[in-house]
Amino acid sequence: MTNIIAIANHKGGVGKTTSVQNIGVGLSRLGHKVLLVDLDPQANLSDAFGYEDVEKSIYDAMVQGTNLPIFPITSKLHLAPANLDLSVAEVELSGVTGREYVLKEVLDKVKMNYDYLLIDCPPSLGLLTINALTACTEVYIPLDAQYFSMKGLDKLMLIMEKIKARLNKEVEISGVFLTQFDVRIVVNRNIAEMIEENFANKVFKTRIRRNVALVEAPIGNQDIFAYAPGSNGAKDYEQLSKEIVNAHSN
Ligand SMILES: Nc1ncnc2c1ncn2[C@@H]1O[C@H](COP(=O)(O)OP(=O)(O)O)[C@@H](O)[C@H]1O
Ligand SMILES: [Mg+2]
Repeated sequence: MTNIIAIANHKGGVGKTTSVQNIGVGLSRLGHKVLLVDLDPQANLSDAFGYEDVEKSIYDAMVQGTNLPIFPITSKLHLAPANLDLSVAEVELSGVTGREYVLKEVLDKVKMNYDYLLIDCPPSLGLLTINALTACTEVYIPLDAQYFSMKGLDKLMLIMEKIKARLNKEVEISGVFLTQFDVRIVVNRNIAEMIEENFANKVFKTRIRRNVALVEAPIGNQDIFAYAPGSNGAKDYEQLSKEIVNAHSN
């Protein structure tokens, strides 16, 4: 079975895109076939791989009914890119019957070629995110280790309940992980404790530490393993990728 994981949090800047890129590369380095799906009209994930302003994107597949454009990054890592066209998809799909299932239908046609699909969600709880939550088999939530990281999460939980009741019965939040973590900062440690109290066994043991190499890598269209293989960022995303594989091996 293909694991379809939506990386979602309607708060921006929590590390969704950084995580999709580097977990994707991490999983492919462990031998798995991975498709990264950019579902954010800002297309940061596509940009990070050097696919800027692509002519055809996931928009065309979702709204125009074309084949999903897929670009090979390596033999084991592929990208379905976004572009700014996607910013009008929510409006254009709003009157369509079955509008919540559009992404699922698109991904159903290609998922058999992969072990993992990772969906990079936009920073909102609009129709695109609802499509991701409907198409996926599980949801991961990255949380930045800041004071307000839990604020507003109840909205995401509420949407998840509705999705489970109506659109995707099997879906679960199966992973929560901390990003931009600095053990020397008291607030970060407090937040880590709070998150462990709230999400218990769903919290990944790996915490992604604050690491400037993670900010620099995408500027040169590189992932963290290529840009700074010895960095904490590379170590943490390798560790998290292994934890994810383990979680799927039993
Ligand atoms: N572990 C980290 N350490 C330092 N900076 C990070 C880390 N993770 C992400 N960032 C930076 O934080 C910003 C937001 O990350 P991003 O992945 O784009 O978040 P999102 O997709 O949730 O909006 C980016 O500039 C990114 O480079
Ligand atoms: Mg992003």
